[in-house]
Amino acid sequence: MRVPVGVKVGVFALAVMGSYSYFANSIPQIESKPPQELSLEGGQVTTAQLVKAGEEIFKTKGTCEVCHRIGQKGTRAPDLAGVGSRATARAAERATKGKPLRPGMTAKQYLLESLLDPGAYAVEGYPPIMPAVDKPPIGLNRSEVWALVAFLQSLGGTVDVTLNDIPATVGAGGAGGGGAAAEVKLPGDPKAGEAIFAGKGGCIACHKAGKVGAAQVGPDLSQIAKIQTPDYIMKKILDPAGMGTVAGYPKGVMPPTFGQTLTAREYTDLVSFLLTLK
Ligand code: HEC
Ligand code: HEC
Repeated sequence: MRVPVGVKVGVFALAVMGSYSYFANSIPQIESKPPQELSLEGGQVTTAQLVKAGEEIFKTKGTCEVCHRIGQKGTRAPDLAGVGSRATARAAERATKGKPLRPGMTAKQYLLESLLDPGAYAVEGYPPIMPAVDKPPIGLNRSEVWALVAFLQSLGGTVDVTLNDIPATVGAGGAGGGGAAAEVKLPGDPKAGEAIFAGKGGCIACHKAGKVGAAQVGPDLSQIAKIQTPDYIMKKILDPAGMGTVAGYPKGVMPPTFGQTLTAREYTDLVSFLLTLK
């Protein structure tokens, strides 16, 4: 009996993902601490400084602006203008009809949840594609998450978040966690993957990726590895609809057939190429 190729690719993808997390866990944590990491723990910091630091992270290391704008309709994600005041209503909603219910949830807890567990409550009209910000590829530490919540509260709300509101586990054991894993490479060949992207895969018909391609039917993938996890990217190629539709783009346009048309080798090379896009 022949195993359908789609199934083969699926199993292979799982095996690759397994070894991926194995590699990620075996990287010494020390490498994962980028020098520019912000630490505010134990230090004196005013609310204004905290908000300023959060704004900086929003624009740089957090890569939030790839998806979000403030005071401007972006395509992929909600406009964050006024999110500091909106958070109060969202928290009330989470507390009364959320699934799971979070009774007594406060505005700052809602904002924290939206950063650490974005899928727990997806804003209506948007797919749950936001990555947890304390995990790779964004990988912010506890201080950075704290500053970010303060910045979000400052957008129309009152800044009352303290370091104690941020669980000590945020940022994977305090060692940054993220960075190193984001550097982990799949056992594929990015150059060969680029050729698949432009050739057999036909991705170029709809996507731009760095210097390759110009099409705008689908999202620009030039920074995809900066904002999305390898897991999301791998699954999206095999099951586009299953991962939700990126806001602002048509549903059902990305072909669901790559698991059948690509060989496992081609698929791994392609994913390796996409992981270089940051
Ligand atoms: C890959 C795109 C993407 C990135 C990167 C991203 N977000 Fe999001 N974000 C979304 C989407 C889509 C939603 C709406 C669905 C949901 O709630 O999960 C969202 C929701 C939110 C919400 C809830 C908004 C509301 O109205 O309740 C907040 C707050 C937020 N993001 C903050 C951030 C911050 C801060 C960063 C950077 C550290 C960030 N996001 C990075 C896509 C992204
Ligand atoms: C016929 C057009 C089309 C082709 C061909 C196509 N895609 Fe897409 N793709 C889309 C559209 C439209 C979206 C956004 C809607 C959605 O999420 O389904 C998308 C979304 C994506 C995303 C998610 C982007 C994000 O920002 O979250 C990835 C990753 C992706 N495509 C990769 C690929 C790869 C790799 C190939 C080639 C193997 C490919 N696509 C081929 C149309 C296409």
